[in-house]
Amino acid sequence: MKAIIDVKLKTRKTDFSKCKTDLLAIGQFSDTKGLDKLSAELNIKLNGAIEQLFKLGDFKAKQGTTAIVYGNGRIAARRLLLVGLGEKKKATLDTARKAAANAANKAVGMKVEILSLALHRAFGARFDLSAMGRALAEGTYFGSYRYDEFVTESENGRLNSLSVEVIDSDLAKVSKLNKGLCTGVIIGKAQSYARTLANRPANVINPPVLAEEAKKLAKTIATLSCTVFDEKQMAAKGMGGVLAVGSGSKSPPRFIVLKYGPVGKGTRTWPTIALVGKAITFDSGGISIKPAAHMDEMKLDKTGGIAVLGTMKAVAELGLPLNVYGIIPSAENMPGGTSYRPGDIVTTFSGRTVEVLNTDAEGRIVLCDGLSYAVKQNCDIIIDIATLTGACVVALGKYMAGLMGNDEKLMKQLQTAAQESGEKLWPMPSGDEYAEEMKSKVADLKNTGSKWGGACTAAAFLRQFVGDAKWAHLDIAGTEMSEKATEYTTQGSSGFGVRLLTTSLVNLAESKRK
Ligand code: BES
Ligand code: MN
Ligand code: ZN
Repeated sequence: MKAIIDVKLKTRKTDFSKCKTDLLAIGQFSDTKGLDKLSAELNIKLNGAIEQLFKLGDFKAKQGTTAIVYGNGRIAARRLLLVGLGEKKKATLDTARKAAANAANKAVGMKVEILSLALHRAFGARFDLSAMGRALAEGTYFGSYRYDEFVTESENGRLNSLSVEVIDSDLAKVSKLNKGLCTGVIIGKAQSYARTLANRPANVINPPVLAEEAKKLAKTIATLSCTVFDEKQMAAKGMGGVLAVGSGSKSPPRFIVLKYGPVGKGTRTWPTIALVGKAITFDSGGISIKPAAHMDEMKLDKTGGIAVLGTMKAVAELGLPLNVYGIIPSAENMPGGTSYRPGDIVTTFSGRTVEVLNTDAEGRIVLCDGLSYAVKQNCDIIIDIATLTGACVVALGKYMAGLMGNDEKLMKQLQTAAQESGEKLWPMPSGDEYAEEMKSKVADLKNTGSKWGGACTAAAFLRQFVGDAKWAHLDIAGTEMSEKATEYTTQGSSGFGVRLLTTSLVNLAESKRK
């Protein structure tokens, strides 16, 4: 198997026109009169070539568009990449992140070896340079990511490594950019790690293999530990939910628990947070089997759990002053002679019973055991993340994940993190009316509601397993993958959740410090 592209990222002080590079990326807004300062400076050196692009209407600086101008020996860079930033009044840090992603994506496509970013310059003093450095780093990893581990014949080959540098002529600016860049590198790499695990198919990753990956990760970081419960240990504990969902597969289920921070030891004043992620390594629907079309996409039904894994990696590498549990119930949902069936009544880890009306509503059945485990660890805050419902995709499309919860403050905190990270959320209800639909006549709960509001009834089911903890639920069924490549990144897993959850935890740690 090929390794993913090794992206090396750093900052460097250099004059823009003297920067020796394959590709120098600069930003340009669409609604500003004339060229911005840096473009104007380079335009003179390039004998008016940038101005020509605009004059002839070949480049309008719309967001997502780019244009190339050749250096021709007039500047030290071989090529100049103009990256459209759209309207200045709409600019956020995500505009910068997207611009870096676009430039990095182009650099990989063009197979250049050195990419130099001067994108921050167009934003002037609008954003803190450290936050800017972080956004550029996150975008660089996002945009340069490719998944081709199993492609043995690549026609023209592809780069094994890419060197990226964020440059400025002012040393003070370079050092500010560098501060955030280091955080961004950790988050960007964690997201790429998550995307690779998510993209691996179900014949390569099953629950035991995922558990091994989690253990492998924990071994590389001193503050991270990992415990895995196999099917026998789960049976002894009474984790009937995960066991039921996994019962039809040849690959047994696993209950993965990562711990960051010396939980409980000398850090008692730190809040304890649980991240709970659904990791169904393949969701065939089980006995309530899914139609054939797009069933292959259900290899991505593990991305919630993998987003938790990626976030744990980032949080541990950042050394945040928090206690964090990463709880990943993992199973393969398959039909077979040993599968759980519609009509079955399952006793979950909480002791509560669930009537299974549809074996394809399996996510909530594994998650409820994960949530109960978090409650038993006395976590103050529980955030779960799951590719839970098609109904959420119907409601919100592919741009935003659903956000449900029982605590306004936690939901607000997550929405702020969503804005900052560019991984967007939209609030949805999950209260009493929806919970009412999940009552069963023969058990405590049933696993499906009525025809309507499927994302909300699913959340209402989960809500009943969180006890008194502050809880939020992220339904990422629509955002976890893109069917096709965009100007910002390749198709497949988006790694959605790693930036969002890490940002949320960074902010939480920051607010506790004050
Ligand atoms: N993993 C699916 C949800 C999903 C759908 C994720 C599309 C990504 C894209 C989940 O397990 C599922 O099958 N949910 C059912 C629930 C229903 C049976 C109540 C659904 O949404 O159809
Ligand atoms: Mn399902
Ligand atoms: Zn599923």
